[in-house]
Amino acid sequence: MSHNEKIKQTLDALKAQINEHNYRYYVLDTPTIPDAEYDRLFRQLQDLEKNHPELITEDSPPQRVGDKPLSEFAEVQHEIPMLSLDNAFNEAEIFNFNKRIFDRLKTLDAINYAVEPKFDGVAVSIVYEHGKFKRAATRGDGQTGEDITQNVRTISSVPLVLRGKTIPDKLEIRGEIYMPLEGFNRYNQRAVAENEKIFANPRNAAAGSLRQLDPNITASRPLEFFAYGIGLTSESLAITTHKELLDQLQQWGIRVTTERAVFSSIEACQKFYETLLTKREKLPYEIDGMVIKVNDFSLQQKLGFVSRAPRWAIAYKFPAQEELTVLKAVDFQVGRTGALTPVARLEPVKVAGVIVRNATLHNMDEVHRKNIFIGDTVIVRRAGDVIPEVVAAVLERRPINAMKITLPTHCPVCHSAVIQKSTEAVARCSGGLICSAQQKEAIKHFASRKAMDIDGLGDKLVEALVDKELVHNVAEIYSLKQQQIVELERMGEKSAGNLIQAIEASKQTTLARFIFAIGIREVGEATAKLLAKHFKKLDKLMTSSIEELLSLPDIGPVVSENILNFFHEKQNRKIIDKLLQHGISWNETMDTVEKDQLLRDKTVVITGSFSNMSREEIREDLERRGAKVSGTVSKKTSYVIVGEAPGSKLTKATELGIPLLDEKQLLVLLQRSS
Ligand code: IVH
Repeated sequence: MSHNEKIKQTLDALKAQINEHNYRYYVLDTPTIPDAEYDRLFRQLQDLEKNHPELITEDSPPQRVGDKPLSEFAEVQHEIPMLSLDNAFNEAEIFNFNKRIFDRLKTLDAINYAVEPKFDGVAVSIVYEHGKFKRAATRGDGQTGEDITQNVRTISSVPLVLRGKTIPDKLEIRGEIYMPLEGFNRYNQRAVAENEKIFANPRNAAAGSLRQLDPNITASRPLEFFAYGIGLTSESLAITTHKELLDQLQQWGIRVTTERAVFSSIEACQKFYETLLTKREKLPYEIDGMVIKVNDFSLQQKLGFVSRAPRWAIAYKFPAQEELTVLKAVDFQVGRTGALTPVARLEPVKVAGVIVRNATLHNMDEVHRKNIFIGDTVIVRRAGDVIPEVVAAVLERRPINAMKITLPTHCPVCHSAVIQKSTEAVARCSGGLICSAQQKEAIKHFASRKAMDIDGLGDKLVEALVDKELVHNVAEIYSLKQQQIVELERMGEKSAGNLIQAIEASKQTTLARFIFAIGIREVGEATAKLLAKHFKKLDKLMTSSIEELLSLPDIGPVVSENILNFFHEKQNRKIIDKLLQHGISWNETMDTVEKDQLLRDKTVVITGSFSNMSREEIREDLERRGAKVSGTVSKKTSYVIVGEAPGSKLTKATELGIPLLDEKQLLVLLQRSS
């Protein structure tokens, strides 16, 4: 074999391996190699191609982004029009849909419905010729779309080559390109930091990213694809139902959702809708409803179309996550570090099933960037468990007496001056520890579950304690007497006694929790853990140098300076001294020394409650042994720990056949590895 043939063989083997791993990662959702190994393969292929450009083929994984920017998008005629769907908003409307279908088919036999999420992104048509990615287009008006081939090529979950042998010569896949929530949030956070325009929602983000003339920009955006159907095929497929179609697409290596099912009654579809609605907030991408499709192709054909929508399908919409309302006023809330957050007071409006009265405006830069005035009609968005936010103002509806939003010159709580550094987006109250708003927030944070975990010391109680001037700082929590608590409204002897006990119990903690609890600006849970692990002793951290801090992974100049400033502040040192005098302590070996990493690389999910340990304790214990504790069950989950009254995670785990551990088995496991 010649030298060049050998190289070509290596190239082909690498491409096949990479394609296989892409398939396992994107389509099967069960990667079999770590990301680093994948990156290594990819780089190896890239290097080979650099040295042998004559061997580069268009369908090679590193060749996703290659083309030059376009000056405009070309038009594409859809040979089979891309339709839209009729909408239903409640149970009665889908029951009507069901009835119409029975009437039209004049049948009494059960009808099978295929159900799947309605993905909230951009509809695309992707054409494969001889199993190779050829062309992609937007839906446009349904007849004519735009050619976005070079942008769609950059999306890793769209395969460049299909798998299997019996693929039609020409195959048009239809589906949705979307931006996953995590990528969307990351994109916007970076955009805010760099003073760039942010996207109002993931759908706009996906649309905006696909509308780029330069494919390099699209390539930098985290886009993904799900297929939900087909368009034109050169040969008809030996397939008779929608379910079979999606299964076939998956076998060809095309990504389809796992959240799909077939039911033989509309009532069962309604149940699935309700389940999907509860899952909505946990999915890593946005969906705006569920699509119900008659499963049988022959019945679909009998039913046909009306104008631009099929009679055999309907979009059963979820409550909208964005609504319009009027911005009545803006107040400023003072946070733990004195940061002033503008809060929108709204004409109450129901968003995704919940009445929203307040929404965050983040900071003044955002207010200016979004050009929002008091009196404006605004778009309010409430997605998942994220705090509702004002996304934009509807400028056409701005009344003539609309008022500009201005930053107060003095703190609305303690009346100290408000200071805004030119380098920061946030303005802060300069009152520090004398500001009761900052006192309250510092104490709430200190007592919270992931910090000192003082059971029963909730937000309302902290506010009452500070308002009554019983507590001014976190150290004073430990001087509280039961009688003082009883004298507060709505506090009985028993709950006051429990609180005193919880305060006492919190004294035994971990160094990581303590570092997190004292509330150093921008030192979150993960950073606190890192600091505890590195310094092992509090005084080592308190007297550390900027060089030492900067030498730690993930700790940058801003956080280092915050840490130094915090411990430099006399008042803070005094409070720490007092806390230690009150007897707060931690076991120096437990929290800092690494345990046997028995659970390294394992992903564990916890559900239900436990009698011997809190979930938080279990989580810490598992993490100390190297496990990653996740909130959602997937095929990648190694174990699910099941306590009393487990939730839907148990159902999912059973469905997927994930090994389960009860509390007893868990304790054995934890003891074995300690
Ligand atoms: S089927 C003839 N299935 O919804 C049937 N559409 O309002 C055509 N969409 O433009 C569409 N998820 O972009 C179908 N699972 C799904 C979908 C879905 C999202 C979008 C699609 C279409 C729009 C129709």
